[in-house]
Amino acid sequence: MSHRKLFLLPGDGIGPEITEEFVKVISLLNDKASAGFEIERGLVGGAAYDAHGKAISDDDMARAMAADAVMFAAVGGPKWDNVAYDVRPEAGLLRLRKDLELFANLRPAICYAALAASSSLKPELVEGLDILIVRELTGGVYFGEPKEIIDLGNGQQRAIDTQVYDTYEIERIAAVAFELARTRDNRVCSMEKRNVMKSGLFWNQVVTRVHKEKFADVELSHMLADAGGMQLVRAPKQFDVIVTDNLFGDMLSDVAAMLTGSLGMLPSASLGAEDAVTGKRKAMYEPVHGSAPDIAGQGVANPLAMLASFAMCLRYSFNMIEEAEALDAAIAKVLDDGLRTGDIMAPGCRKVGTSEMGDAVVAAFAATLGV
Ligand code: NAD
Ligand code: IPM
Ligand code: MN
Repeated sequence: MSHRKLFLLPGDGIGPEITEEFVKVISLLNDKASAGFEIERGLVGGAAYDAHGKAISDDDMARAMAADAVMFAAVGGPKWDNVAYDVRPEAGLLRLRKDLELFANLRPAICYAALAASSSLKPELVEGLDILIVRELTGGVYFGEPKEIIDLGNGQQRAIDTQVYDTYEIERIAAVAFELARTRDNRVCSMEKRNVMKSGLFWNQVVTRVHKEKFADVELSHMLADAGGMQLVRAPKQFDVIVTDNLFGDMLSDVAAMLTGSLGMLPSASLGAEDAVTGKRKAMYEPVHGSAPDIAGQGVANPLAMLASFAMCLRYSFNMIEEAEALDAAIAKVLDDGLRTGDIMAPGCRKVGTSEMGDAVVAAFAATLGV
């Protein structure tokens, strides 16, 4: 039996509720398919702050480093609105991304056939949608220095965030986007603000050079990020892969989420570089949505983004392609069967809670795998 080390960070709000649903999938794989997943759990976000005053402890960081993959649910909530900036719940997530060097954030937006009517756009605009946002995750304005609020001494203050990108950071995220495009429809659209930002101009230049040097077979286009947002809601199916920086990627992926019906549907994978010797890469998987404080503790959250994030984990960290495809198919099946959590509820469908939705996916998954 092989050993696959998973580190679970349920976090806050609906995080622990949706975590329990994918743990059911792991139990099935271990019990019925001898998958040998070993689970360790840690604290992150408000839960970690409440326990020891930090958004993630050094000990849990070390355990995240040592794991084959980290499964992260969600952090944050009004309870921690007034804690110090450095230890706010979101700081735990940012530290994980930075310290594990997870520079490539893959956010696929796929509209399941059964959910076309749940999107805020007309069904014909989103039916069959399959786009991939590749978001740079360890640079840009999220991490650039200086980042501070300073006193100007005249009763005024000044807040500074700094957008910084070095050549290598753009080169490596562009390469990830081009490589993934080759496995799909072979098209990449790069989005920045070269008309306003030096870093946008630089982004455009580096992506163009990487394309010319190594990926000329892939179709490359460029769009200003504001126009890109507009095009995403005007005609989203024009895109295949979108590559963009940390902040634009954050916003554009929330926009893309609504195309699929709900933020509760969008998974993500955050990947590091492949180790030259072992071929392994650090990775963390998380839904795009947050801790949804408005519905936390009610057992009504949609667990599908978390389950789809685990499908990405099976694919990218463990090369368990058959299982990953079966899990994706199980999600599509329960939606085809008309099961819906509140966020994607539609006329004629059956409303279920978090746990019932998880159980249905596990049953469909087991049936597909024949276990
Ligand atoms: P949110 O994603 O938590 O919620 C936005 C809306 O979507 C809410 O109405 C919520 O009920 C709904 N929603 C989100 N996920 C859902 C699901 N799985 N099922 C059903 N409905 C769902 O965003 P927010 O309200 O802006 O942020 C709340 C907190 O979460 C903040 O503290 C924020 O910083 C944090 N956050 C964390 C992450 C993360 O941990 N990766 C991501 C985004 C926001
Ligand atoms: C996301 C979230 C995070 C981000 C926050 C919670 C730090 O919005 O993963 O999309 O801004 O990256
Ligand atoms: Mn976000």
